[in-house]
Amino acid sequence: KGKIKSSWVCSDCGDSFGQWWGSCRSCGATGTVKQFSESSSVESKPSGFGIAEKVAGSWFTQKSEGLAPQRLTDVNKGVNQLTWRIPLPGPFGGEVARVLGGGLVPGSLVLVGGDPGVGKSTLLLQMAAMIAQEGDFGRPAPVLYVSGEESVEQIGNRADRMKIGTEDLFLYSSTDIEDILEKIQALSPRALIVDSIQTVYLKGVTGSAGGIVQVKECTSSLLRFAKKTNIPVLLIGHVTKSGDIAGPRVLEHIVDVVLYMEGEEYSAHRFLRSVKNRFGSTDELGVFEMSQKGLQAVSNPSEIFLSEQHPDSEILAGLAVAVIVDGSRAFLLEIQALCLSESAATRQYNGVLPSRAEMIISVLMKQAGLKLQNNAIFVNIVSGVKLKETAGDLAIAVAICSRSGEWKKG
Ligand code: TYD
Ligand code: MG
Repeated sequence: KGKIKSSWVCSDCGDSFGQWWGSCRSCGATGTVKQFSESSSVESKPSGFGIAEKVAGSWFTQKSEGLAPQRLTDVNKGVNQLTWRIPLPGPFGGEVARVLGGGLVPGSLVLVGGDPGVGKSTLLLQMAAMIAQEGDFGRPAPVLYVSGEESVEQIGNRADRMKIGTEDLFLYSSTDIEDILEKIQALSPRALIVDSIQTVYLKGVTGSAGGIVQVKECTSSLLRFAKKTNIPVLLIGHVTKSGDIAGPRVLEHIVDVVLYMEGEEYSAHRFLRSVKNRFGSTDELGVFEMSQKGLQAVSNPSEIFLSEQHPDSEILAGLAVAVIVDGSRAFLLEIQALCLSESAATRQYNGVLPSRAEMIISVLMKQAGLKLQNNAIFVNIVSGVKLKETAGDLAIAVAICSRSGEWKKG
């Protein structure tokens, strides 16, 4: 008999430990930590499709029926089939495809993470509609959008506002993974979207929906579903501040592709970044704008970080533009600096590491002879972008120089 791995799992919060504890070290609940072994994670269920038995905690029992080691040269004969991707048309599709590494790979499991409200549901509803609309070489291709957060009427309303009226887009509201995978059999869709992984659960698995065990087991089951059926599955995962709901990070190693959606609160721009991709390069950046009708691709994103043009040359002092490369594209970043002499020597930096800014200021004082000791200095990177590259150093230095009184004198 193979080794059965066991751990101790809190039935309240789902966190797991290497040993037994009288009270849970994560949530503090008493008497909730129970031994949990891979084989006992799922109650045996003889009825239904038996998906639960196959999917949950069965890394050991999964049999490689009829499989044998293959010659590399034989494997690579089928390479054309493997590089085929579900096309994502149009400017919006193109921008998503760029981040996915060329398109949606059949049978892949894609995780889209991001803060609540950033626009994940909007993005995936649009993608679902687009895939359904494109069809399968002229034949209709249903796409199923499952939400555990909203009713079908709510999703319908949202689609209506976004002017989506695709006939082959199917909506379903459920939180039961078994139920979802059962319903999908009849539909045999081109893609499955699950919104969100924190709301779905697998019967017989410890913990409540959103707990670490549930989230991991549900993701594993969807992964196996995707591989078995070749239907791509797109998962939404909320980034959570509190520790009681498992965030997308715990799933990164399970899924094929991890995308994060980012955006500033007071800006309509949304960025889609790939941090893991088994089918392409990471570090690609997709740029979108949130509009009344959903997300729109920004076709020429290089200048979106520039604030408005300033006709007054006096205002131009303290402004510098840096060119940085993100993904395969170059972006212009505007850097603003303000130096107030004869005031408290406070420092305020937004979008740049304080230690980096301090270093640049020190270099300016030492090498350029600027007398900034008694200055209040403010540095801001427009549109809330975090400047990580050293490529911005010169622009920061120039912005500070041009704003400091020293420059005019000298
Ligand atoms: P949503 O996709 O619901 O975010 P998430 O799923 O990541 O929680 O998007 C929420 C925000 O997007 C909400 O503040 C409203 C805004 N929005 C638009 O501006 N235009 C639109 O067409 C839609 C659908 C949403
Ligand atoms: Mg949502």
